[in-house]
Amino acid sequence: MCGITGYIGYRNAYPIIIKGLQRLEYRGYDSAGILLYNDNEDALISKTKGKVSDLEELMNSGISKEGNIGFGHTRWATHGVPNDVNSHPHTSNSGNLVIIHNGIIENYDSIKKELTKRGYTFKSDTDTEVLINLIEEVKKTNNCKLGKAIQIALNEVIGAYAITVFDKEKPDELVVARLGSPIAIGIGKENKEFFIASDASPFIEYTKNAIYLEDGEMAIIRKDKEIEIRKINDDSIITPEIQQLKMNLEQIEKGGYDHFMLKEIYEQPHAITDTYRGRLIANKGIIRMAGIDDNMEKFLNADRIIIVACGTSWHAGLVAEYLFEDLARIPVEVEYASEFRYRNPIINDNDVVIAISQSGETADTLAAIKLAKEKGAFVFGICNVVGSSIAREAHAGAYTHAGPEIGVASTKAFTTQITLLSLIALKLGKKKGNLSNAKYHNYLQELELIPKKVESLLAIDEKVKHIASVYKDATNCLYLGRGFNFPVALEGALKLKEISYIHAEGYPAAEMKHGPIALIDENMPIFVIATNKGHYEKVVSNIQEIKARKGKIIAIVTEGDTTVKEIADHIIEIPDTEEAFTPLLTTIPFQLLSYHIAVMLNRNVDQPRNLAKAVTVE
Ligand code: F6R
Repeated sequence: MCGITGYIGYRNAYPIIIKGLQRLEYRGYDSAGILLYNDNEDALISKTKGKVSDLEELMNSGISKEGNIGFGHTRWATHGVPNDVNSHPHTSNSGNLVIIHNGIIENYDSIKKELTKRGYTFKSDTDTEVLINLIEEVKKTNNCKLGKAIQIALNEVIGAYAITVFDKEKPDELVVARLGSPIAIGIGKENKEFFIASDASPFIEYTKNAIYLEDGEMAIIRKDKEIEIRKINDDSIITPEIQQLKMNLEQIEKGGYDHFMLKEIYEQPHAITDTYRGRLIANKGIIRMAGIDDNMEKFLNADRIIIVACGTSWHAGLVAEYLFEDLARIPVEVEYASEFRYRNPIINDNDVVIAISQSGETADTLAAIKLAKEKGAFVFGICNVVGSSIAREAHAGAYTHAGPEIGVASTKAFTTQITLLSLIALKLGKKKGNLSNAKYHNYLQELELIPKKVESLLAIDEKVKHIASVYKDATNCLYLGRGFNFPVALEGALKLKEISYIHAEGYPAAEMKHGPIALIDENMPIFVIATNKGHYEKVVSNIQEIKARKGKIIAIVTEGDTTVKEIADHIIEIPDTEEAFTPLLTTIPFQLLSYHIAVMLNRNVDQPRNLAKAVTVE
């Protein structure tokens, strides 16, 4: 979590860093800070609790913004509450070394005790301040250069990090290192300038050439010099692979929408099309996916598929359980990555593990796939962020191609993950002979129509807004669904919780009577998915049970439904489709509903409290 960005070159660093921090604010936003080095005025550090806008305000109060070397940080607190002192950058006791850090140093306490014995003092409660003093101590005792000191210090550290370090004694150099947290280095023309960032968004308008550091690598970046990359645990020099970025500026700006989340909800027709573009050729009955085609035997011989993910991606995994079992008849287990990694799971050579992650950086998911690999499983990654850690760690994989998702609440990531998982399930189902030709072709054609159906569904926005105005003051909400739509109920509840802070529970509709029914009274809004396929009659009975207890019913139904219309307080109609694809539609009204409620309650939609977009700590 936390965003880091830096610049070294000939331009004024301040505007680049501050704009970069705004773009990285999705990663953490409880405090922000900056270091600027200016030949005439020394290195100036400014930091504050609050958002990047608070930092800007501070900088506008007469602080010098000069300098063409510097770095900035936007924080998501791990060690120490968000306050000015705990904000990054942190300085070593001598005042010479300055650091920004994303990650957690797990053995910071024992290092701190040792450094305290040697006379070091600490102003903050952070693990980061411990790390920079450890580097200082190593540098002093070994009488070595900054790069070497960082290398030695990092070999004593347990945990995860992406760091950038500045040394006042060598002010034309920045040193970066990573283990478990991402770092991209943008390369300007003729090595005259370099950009550093947690993702490429801060420097996309300056260069399309980037190096993504691998875990266990560090880079020494000097003005006007070739970048030097080496391993942290030995001295081997790495020849970097320079990647061409495909992202463009427009994709990471709001484009006229009030919030990124709304933009991303509206982008879904395009995003879903981009997910299946070049992969789904419906009129020829073809699904082409290199990652699957090249590893077909692994999938066909799999005893089971284990899906590991967190949060919304875990919900997409639950939808995939229904898809794979129904269409491909492969047994599936869906696991929270955080549980899977610590419970000594039984994994066999014939298991295929699918990791789902928008960011590709979620620490628990990354650790889960490392464990699965150790135990001999074949790991397939489904990520949105190209070049991300999970994408690189997996044996094979496929990108969702949803484009950057910046709103902290996941929307288009979810629908594109389900689209991709549907393609895989259909491909395997066909190959295994579980789907007749007619059925298979029908599914393909139906999947191709989904973007148009999502587009038409977005026209209900005003109606959903009205429903939001009726229920915005609720303190508890229940979301119910069955079959393919049970995970959508979970996802609907998660969306509401995370951006409006209203308590919400998702349940399989029939489970309601085993407990949650006790909560129902005339103040309780219950959002029920009652589309016309699957368990329609059963859900209608569940709705009757709610009605009998005076709960308020907001039902998502298929266009033309008359039965539920009679009973529900509000209905939202979705276009008809195959049951397997209904999650791609039923989730849209829930996204809009959470969005509007959060706006009406004046919440920070794109940066809800306590959350961060990429959870790179466990
Ligand atoms: C919810 C949300 C989170 C993420 C979770 C996993 O809206 O965004 O629950 O889904 O942190 O993140 P990724 O998919 O990046 O691994």
